[in-house]
Amino acid sequence: MRSDLPSQLNRPLTIGQTTIDCRLVLAPMTLLGHIAFRELLAGFGGYGLLFGEMCSAKRIPREARTGSAYFSWREAERRHLVMQIFGADPPAMATAARIIEEKGLYGVDLNFGCSVATICKQSCGAALLKTPDQAARIVDAVRRAVTIPLFVKFRTGWTDDPAIPVDLARRFASAGADALTFHPRVAPDRRSRPPRWDYIKRVKDAVTIPVFGNGDVFDETDCLRMLKTTGCDGVAIGRMAIARPWLMAQMVGLHSPDTGIYRRTAFAMLDLMERHFDDRRALRRYKKFALYYSANFKFGHNFYKRIGNTQDLKAVKGELAAFFNGNPETTTRPNMNFFL
Ligand SMILES: Cc1cc2nc3c(=O)[nH]c(=O)nc-3n(C[C@H](O)[C@H](O)[C@H](O)COP(=O)(O)O)c2cc1C
Repeated sequence: MRSDLPSQLNRPLTIGQTTIDCRLVLAPMTLLGHIAFRELLAGFGGYGLLFGEMCSAKRIPREARTGSAYFSWREAERRHLVMQIFGADPPAMATAARIIEEKGLYGVDLNFGCSVATICKQSCGAALLKTPDQAARIVDAVRRAVTIPLFVKFRTGWTDDPAIPVDLARRFASAGADALTFHPRVAPDRRSRPPRWDYIKRVKDAVTIPVFGNGDVFDETDCLRMLKTTGCDGVAIGRMAIARPWLMAQMVGLHSPDTGIYRRTAFAMLDLMERHFDDRRALRRYKKFALYYSANFKFGHNFYKRIGNTQDLKAVKGELAAFFNGNPETTTRPNMNFFL
């Protein structure tokens, strides 16, 4: 069953006026999918697109590319990078999208899925799923502003009813979205219950634009099962790409990990963070990364606690050396206690 996966993923997919050559994409993740992590991932390969961290549409006009923690990229990734924006105001979202287009990035993604209270209180993110007309107005305004591929990332809505995402998907497609990423969980549910993959199938069947399925793909078997059972056009990988930055390359048949990969990758991530961020930001982001990376180890809580207690990057290096010198035992499936 697994050997089928590279041939399923390494197939061209047309999105708007463009074509990508791999159907596996990195899902957007705040404080995790930053420029340093994307450089780490790029070293392995295995993705068709990279989605960046969400950015406030209102702030984008004021963000300088150098110095911004999240609105920044390397030239080498520009043509694969989709910037995600959040906001509630259609003209502000259109302005931000125009800037993303002017910068020469691959595409823009609208965040209609974040259910964090601070975002929803501003009527942004998943709050927009309660006001589908307003959400569609945003899609329409952005569509009129740019010609680059326009994505919408959304979830089931606020009630567990498949008719809701089906209706939303149709509205987004008719307002001009080029592709959808669908995470089939209701908004208040922050990953405690399994996602309803059967809803991905319903969304896929409801629209003619490409649909990326998302949620709880942990390994190659899951990925193939999502493609086969839902008919989705591609798969967006979130937390597992952080836990195993080589996993996407493995899924497309580019890479087979050796036992030293856990140690090398932990140090490589630290080097890249030091290169891209000031020490305070690098430390904060490394601790966030460490939460998901911990899931790889039988005694992951030990790793996470050690990194979590560090006060500076030198101490992180020391803890990494001590942890890996002890030849930590790895898990085949991630330890779910870390997969918040
Ligand atoms: C720490 C964290 C931050 C996230 N930030 C975003 C975000 O900024 N925008 C977004 O659309 N989704 C965000 N997500 C959701 C992921 O894109 C994805 O939908 C979710 O993790 C399920 O996919 P997975 O099971 O492959 O991780 C975030 C998820 C996590 C764990």
